[in-house]
Amino acid sequence: MLKVVVLVSGGGTNLQAIIDAVKSEQIRNVELSAVISNKKDAYALTRASENGIPGVCVSRKAYETREAFEEALLQAVDSFTPDLIVLAGFLVILPAKMTEKYSHRIINIHPSLIPSFCGDGFYGLHVHEKVLARGVKVTGATVHFVDSGTDTGPILLQKAVSIKPGDTPEVLQRRVMEEAEWIILPKAIDAIANGKVKEVDGSFFVED
Ligand code: GRF
Repeated sequence: MLKVVVLVSGGGTNLQAIIDAVKSEQIRNVELSAVISNKKDAYALTRASENGIPGVCVSRKAYETREAFEEALLQAVDSFTPDLIVLAGFLVILPAKMTEKYSHRIINIHPSLIPSFCGDGFYGLHVHEKVLARGVKVTGATVHFVDSGTDTGPILLQKAVSIKPGDTPEVLQRRVMEEAEWIILPKAIDAIANGKVKEVDGSFFVED
């Protein structure tokens, strides 16, 4: 069983998609070891406890320095000895110590087709606001491995989503979640757990 720790900051709909996929066996051979949040009132923690998954909060506010917070976060993650760390709406930049230690064992879901609309400042609703402002006709979501940069790691899966006339950032955010994020994040986890990820010339592919 692949031991997975999920890091969250908010509502946790991506976490819910993962939990549902484990229950329905769309994700096989995975144990959800813990959910770690940097926000104590994140609804994702409620989802964890409702599903019998240990929940932990590591808040920046509880530590005097950024370094102390990062150390506590790393210790919390390490305590579950995860095989895979999943960032599911986690709004903290990971410490370099963590991305180095867990190289190619951390994945993130980003709500655009990387390399468009990603990097510093592109998070949450802002991504969709900028997509609509630019007037592109196709957006989507990306699952990528996490390296020391922001949204720069190797891409594992992507799925496109159409923009429709009259879309608001909120409407588009919901469509990107429903049509892309909640599908490709569980798919990526299942692929990693079951040896379906292949690397060819430095690019990663998921076998069907
Ligand atoms: C998602 O749009 C995700 O792509 C982004 O933050 C949002 C998290 O939503 N990074 P949720 O907490 O999973 O509902």
